[in-house]
Parts: sequence; structure tokens; C-alpha cells
Amino acid sequence: MAINAIKGMNDILPGEVETWQFLEQKARDVFSLHGFSEIRTPVVEKTELFCRSIGETTDIVEKEMYSFTDKSDNGLTLRPEGTAPVMRAFIQNRLHTLDPVSKLYYLGPMFRYERPQKGRYRQFYQLGAEVIGVESPLVDAQVLAMLHQFFGAAGIDSVQLHINSLGCPACRPAYRQQLIDFLEERLATLCGDCQRRYQTNPLRVVDCKVPGCQTATLGAPSVLDHLCQACETHFAAVQTNMRALDIPYVVNARMVRGLDYYVRTTFEMVTDQLGSQNAVAAGGRYDGLVESLGGPPLPGIGFAIGLERLVLMKGQGQIQAKRPDIFLAALGEAASAHAFVLMAQLQRVGIYAEIDYTAKSLKSQLRRANKLKARYTLVLGDTELEQGRAELKDMDQSEARPIDLGRLIETMQQLAPTAA
Ligand code: HAM
Repeated sequence: MAINAIKGMNDILPGEVETWQFLEQKARDVFSLHGFSEIRTPVVEKTELFCRSIGETTDIVEKEMYSFTDKSDNGLTLRPEGTAPVMRAFIQNRLHTLDPVSKLYYLGPMFRYERPQKGRYRQFYQLGAEVIGVESPLVDAQVLAMLHQFFGAAGIDSVQLHINSLGCPACRPAYRQQLIDFLEERLATLCGDCQRRYQTNPLRVVDCKVPGCQTATLGAPSVLDHLCQACETHFAAVQTNMRALDIPYVVNARMVRGLDYYVRTTFEMVTDQLGSQNAVAAGGRYDGLVESLGGPPLPGIGFAIGLERLVLMKGQGQIQAKRPDIFLAALGEAASAHAFVLMAQLQRVGIYAEIDYTAKSLKSQLRRANKLKARYTLVLGDTELEQGRAELKDMDQSEARPIDLGRLIETMQQLAPTAA
């Protein structure tokens, strides 16, 4: 029996990988314009890192982590998100001693044991960015501007940015208690999950997508009415900065994130194109996180984009694979051997050349050249080799020109748009 991939974990195949590469390149281009450098951290971390940062009572830590013990009895977990590992690396490598502001981005697979469906997988890719060291609301707006610019560069416009403020350790506890009191009176109408978590994680109840919970929490106290002066001023400044940069957004006081480390500004990029998995990107501020993980008391803010969701929106197959600059069709043994050497010589100077590896008919070789969308084709047979001349056919213009075989590389360097 053939062995298949694990449920919820997908292969990314030629034909679709081009869309991924396109999006990744756009992200690298845009992020570097904003001064971000890439950071790569291991896929596996100590389980404790995620329990302490994401929060013991979150869905991720309670139900979704791929945790295991290794042969030395260490409790390890496949990373379910990128922020905690980046903070761990930041602290461990004392990056704050190199620069008071660290702007880092990352790209890689994350793992959550969720119920797979369209846009929700057990291995999924995040493209994330984090800024550590700045409390100013200018940075909140810059991070959102960068996200906005990336979506523009990627050609995805059917998204809406929702922002909220979740307060801070000074103002959230009082709000939290008011919310618990409110929910207690409506307990019977809440879903099972919310009945269980309304004491430990009451803010999540306001964000619950179950219709009964949405109705029950209609008149719930709003987090934005309970911000302390400092948080209110910060959130107002974020919005002023967003308006100054012309970044469209809506304030959504019911948006609560599924990770516990957030304070103040939180946000989601949502779309109506993906059904219930409507968040394409999400993030926020986590000012106490670095310190809680044993680092210096530095603020931070960031986001992660779900790449599968982005690819679904972009539409696979829209970005074409690279076309060969030239396809060398050969007839006969001597010509095949010559074509093989020519291909290698062309590739060495940066020209994408293809040949056929089997001795097929000319017709079937040209069919393959067409399938690959080769820009030029060159037919080599005994006569061409003897005369040292051949016909170079421009496949887009359907025109052929005679060329000197000894000057093929030079000619292609002049013609091929992709030549190095
Ligand atoms: P998150 O909201 O858990 O935040 O995930 C961010 C994004 O990853 C989601 O909006 C979604 O697009 C994608 N995503 C999450 N789970 C799945 C899944 N099972 N399948 C496919 N895509 C998924 C975080 O992870 C935070 N670390 C973001 C952050 C960075 N906050 C501050 N800095």
C-alpha cells in the first residue's frame, strides 16, 4: 500500500509553488524596505516556552500542540506559532545589545492539531514580522502600513483590517471581572467551550463564533470603554498615525486574539473569500512577553500571515513557472550529444536551456518545447552540425532566423530577457 501524507499536512507542488515563491519574494522585498532582517529558528522548542507565552488556558496550549518527549525525556513541541521562538532567540542571543530596535521577520511551517478544513491545516506556513524595543504608537502604524503594502504588492485587495485595543495589566483585570459577572448571568446560553472558559479566558467568549454566544454577548461591556488613560492615548495615537498614512481600517471592539500575550493594539486582516477561516493575517502588541520569558523589559509588536490562506486568495496557477529561454531539439546521436553540451554551456552563462533526454521524434520534441512555453527553439541534425548553422525559431513571433552555431551563446545572451 502506498504511504500518504499525514492528514492536514500538504505537499506544495510545481504549478502552485510558483505562487508561494511569488508571495515570499514580495514579502522579502517589502519587509526589507522597512528595515526587517530574516531570522530562522528551530521548528522544535521546549514545550514550556509555548505554555508560558501563548497561555495555559488557550486552545493552542490546551488542545492543539504537537508535544512529545525525546529519548532524553525532554518535553518538546513542534512550534505552533513563531512569536515565542523569535522572543526566545532574541533573549538567548542578547539581540538588544546589538541594536535598541530589532526588526525581524520569519517564514516557515507551524504545527497545530486542529480539525483540518479549507484554510485550516495541521502544518501551515506563517510569514511573520516582529519589532522589539519600541513602545511608540508610530511602530504600530508602521507595522500595519507594512502589512498593507505587502497585500498591495501581492495584488490582494479583498481584505479588511480590523483593529482593537485589549488594554494592559493596569486596566484589563477590572474589565475582565466585569465581563465574568456579565457572562455568569447568561451562562446557560453559552456554548460548551465558553461555559468552560468564561472564568479563565472570558475575553475569548466575546469573540466566539457560535451564534448562541454571539447573541448572548451582544450587550457585553466593551473593552474599549475600560481602557486606562495610557492605553486610550496609545490607541488614539495609533489611529491618528493610520489616518496620516491613509491606511483603511475598522475598529472592532469584539476582536480578541487566541493567544494570551497580547496587550493594547491587536489586529486581523479578514476576508469574506475563505468561509469561516477568515483571518489571513493577525497580530498585535505583546509588551510584557520578552520580560516574562526572562529577557529585558522590552515592548514588542508583530503579525503573522497565513500563507495557505493567502495562496487560496491569490488563486493557484496564476503565477507561471519560468519559461525556458531556449529548447534544443536534436535528431541523431551526434546532434543529441552536441545539444547536451550546448545546453550546459548556455546554463553556465545564465540562460535557461532545455533538451529532450530521450531520442524522440522531432514532432514530439517540439510538442514538449511548446508545453514548456520555450521562447526559442533550435533544431539540430547532422546537416546543421556539418554546416555549423541552424535555424533559431522565435516561438512567440513564429519567425526563424539562420544563426551560426558557434555564436549561439552570444546570440542568446543578446536575445534572452532572463539571461544573466
Ligand atoms: P494566529 O492568529 O494564531 O497568530 O495566526 C496568524 C495567522 O496564521 C492566522 O491569521 C492564519 O492566517 C494563520 N493560521 C493560523 N492557524 C492556521 C491553521 N491551522 N491553518 C492555516 N493557517 C493558520 C499568531 O500565530 C501570532 N504569533 C501572530 C503574531 C506575531 N502576533 C504578534 N506577532
